[in-house]
Amino acid sequence: MKQQHITVFGSFVVDLMSRAPHLPVPGETVKGSVFRIGPGGKGFNQGVAAKKAGADVTMVTKIRRDTFGNIALNTMKELDMDASHVFFSEKSETGAALIMVDEATSQNAIMVTLGACSEITKENVDSVEEVVKNSGYLLTQLETNVDAVERVVDMAHRYGVTVVFNTAPVQPISDELLRKVDIITPNEVEAEILTGIQVDSEENAQKAAEYFFGKGVKTVVITLGKRGVFVSTKQKHGILPVPKVDVLDTTGAGDAFNGALVASLAEGKDIWEACGFANAAASISVTRMGTTPSMPVRGEIDKFLSEHK
Ligand code: RIB
Repeated sequence: MKQQHITVFGSFVVDLMSRAPHLPVPGETVKGSVFRIGPGGKGFNQGVAAKKAGADVTMVTKIRRDTFGNIALNTMKELDMDASHVFFSEKSETGAALIMVDEATSQNAIMVTLGACSEITKENVDSVEEVVKNSGYLLTQLETNVDAVERVVDMAHRYGVTVVFNTAPVQPISDELLRKVDIITPNEVEAEILTGIQVDSEENAQKAAEYFFGKGVKTVVITLGKRGVFVSTKQKHGILPVPKVDVLDTTGAGDAFNGALVASLAEGKDIWEACGFANAAASISVTRMGTTPSMPVRGEIDKFLSEHK
């Protein structure tokens, strides 16, 4: 099967990351041990993850022509990614995320200011119609303005493009939008917030999946962190475990998963094989620091899979 094109529609922000022995509580100052600045944003991380996994990707996002915006453009150039569908704001600066990582537990706390990528206009969305129409998959999340997400999902749905919808950062989702989603990919916390069902067992994960099926979603993929991923289609459901790895930084692991998932689906793999591939990409990413820079290349994912059969 010919590899299908993927449109990734979503946020770009610059990640300002510090690691420290513990996360500060309000009012506390903690001395950090490492500081890194680099490309990030859930949409961009997912686009890069798909590209590095071997996919044919168009990244749609919005930045400003400023110092942080140049980080997006330079990264895309380095990775040979098409930047012709990056929009430029005249109003707001390129967004930024303040990320604090606890060295002891690898947990993080993030404050993201979306800036330019929360201003994607109707006209911006309409201008990518040809790209979306010619894609096999649209991958998007909730880290840009929601009206733009709704518009691009509607467009993809009208053309029969498979919509893969990552529910991060979680917020209420209309039934109208859910109806057009083919594959939904919440993590367990997001699944609980959206469905009201605590995803603490396979049985309850299936109940959460049934909630989404009731809204018209066709396939449910709930990421469970170190427990792996729960996959549910109308025919079959189950958990695909992940191998144990030395975790350094879990930030962006969900993005690694989503990007690699769509890359594998676009090669014609079924949802089970694609989730195994995505688990491998996420497992590698958590052994590295940072977000966009932690996304593995195809050879690394294939090697990981052959070593962890
Ligand atoms: O999912 C991780 C991403 O979320 C980070 O890159 C940060 O930008 C935040 O938005």
